[in-house]
Amino acid sequence: MIVNGTIMLMEKILTLKIENFSSSGEGMAKHNGFVIFVENALPDDLVKVEIIKENKHFAKAKILEIIKPSKGRVKPFCALYNACGACSLQSASYDFQLKLKKEIVQDAIRNIGGLNMDVQDVEPAPLTKEFRCKIQYPTAQTKVSKRILAGYYKPKSHEIVNIKHCPIQPAICDEIVEYIRQKGQELNISCYDEKKKTGLLRHIVIRHSSLNGSNLVTLVVNDDTTHPDIKTLAQNIFQKFEKITGVCVNFNITKSNLILGKETVCLFGEDTIEEKILDKTFKIGANTFFQVNPKSAENIFGYVKEIIKNNYKEPVVLDAYAGIAAFGIVVSDVAKEVLSVEENESSTKLAQEVIKNNNIQNVQIKCADTGNFLTECSEKFDIIILDPPRKGCDETTLREALRLSKGGIIYVSCNPATLARDLKYLVQNGARVKNIKPFDMFCHTPHVETVALIEVS
Ligand SMILES: C[S@@+](CC[C@H](N)C(=O)[O-])C[C@H]1O[C@@H](n2cnc3c(N)ncnc32)[C@H](O)[C@@H]1O
Repeated sequence: MIVNGTIMLMEKILTLKIENFSSSGEGMAKHNGFVIFVENALPDDLVKVEIIKENKHFAKAKILEIIKPSKGRVKPFCALYNACGACSLQSASYDFQLKLKKEIVQDAIRNIGGLNMDVQDVEPAPLTKEFRCKIQYPTAQTKVSKRILAGYYKPKSHEIVNIKHCPIQPAICDEIVEYIRQKGQELNISCYDEKKKTGLLRHIVIRHSSLNGSNLVTLVVNDDTTHPDIKTLAQNIFQKFEKITGVCVNFNITKSNLILGKETVCLFGEDTIEEKILDKTFKIGANTFFQVNPKSAENIFGYVKEIIKNNYKEPVVLDAYAGIAAFGIVVSDVAKEVLSVEENESSTKLAQEVIKNNNIQNVQIKCADTGNFLTECSEKFDIIILDPPRKGCDETTLREALRLSKGGIIYVSCNPATLARDLKYLVQNGARVKNIKPFDMFCHTPHVETVALIEVS
């Protein structure tokens, strides 16, 4: 039936066989040729669903009953699976998760990128529990008893699930958060109310080191100075845990959803933790970009290093979107020179320190926008590494990367859709995609990291 140009399904309760899996983690089925996305459904599930939303192009549905589960379906290991929105793929066995992620990348490459090539199998993560080394919990407070709540939001809401145990994070993070809940309440610390824009404590951020188990805690506050109670809380946290290297305060008086404000001050101890990738040691601060799953990241860094080692002799490498120059530093042993470009000033400062600490002589770091830098650059590079954020690269960056690369581009991406779009542009402008290899970094979520090797000549 068509109402005001919108196709309306006659029946609101349907039985569907799930055929596919979307990049946002929903099962996909067809009913009379109409695409229906089903929350929490997996391919091969036979489900009874209720339509909850529909428009011209598709409908959304929720499961009422799983009539016959997919063979890949398992019982989620987390007690909070149904409440918390963070690990929606826990209902799939790990092997099935990898298969689904491969399909997500493959579909994007074919349908968005227009490329007729097979992607490789997904490299599994070395750890599938206690792997996540960056925790960012928003906080809230109960109205009457003023208990502090901290945890991820329920799906599609800003209601906090008060997480006491999260199996994908190191156990010490649960202990630190619980201590902050208790001590914060004792000190009468108020939590930020998103609607009223009042209250002090906004987020608890923990960076955990998989190298030595140490932790850097940052209390994000709705303030521009350190309130004495926050200082007392920070001191208590620092004294309570042996494995805390430092406690910082971050000032965020914006009304936005941004977690961290611009300024961070270390109140006790040190403002960084150490992490190791292959044989190189890194420093990570509260606001530093660093892969959240370091053991899995090591697989990616090792893969990229091997490719450069096996295909280039003493190459000059450009490491763009460099963060703390992790790629630049890791590949410095197999390169003649590396130039790492990053726009975040605090990351470039930390990168300088890391380069010095690792006694590396051939990596330079430049604080700049990648597109602007490439446009003004006249030097050519044997290989260019692009590792942009989820939105991918803009056309200027891609065009200039093609102009400045003598041999190849290694594109590292955390978003298959923007990777596929950017590969399409590169191919349309003369490049060839040689290989696409996904890596599992964000276990139990539909997210997947991918490395594409591109030949330019
Ligand atoms: C996905 S992270 C990759 C970081 C690093 N390659 C790593 O693996 O640790 C993307 C990085 O690009 C930086 N960035 C974002 N847009 C940028 C731009 N236009 N120019 C330069 N750097 C940018 C971000 O600050 C962030 O550090």
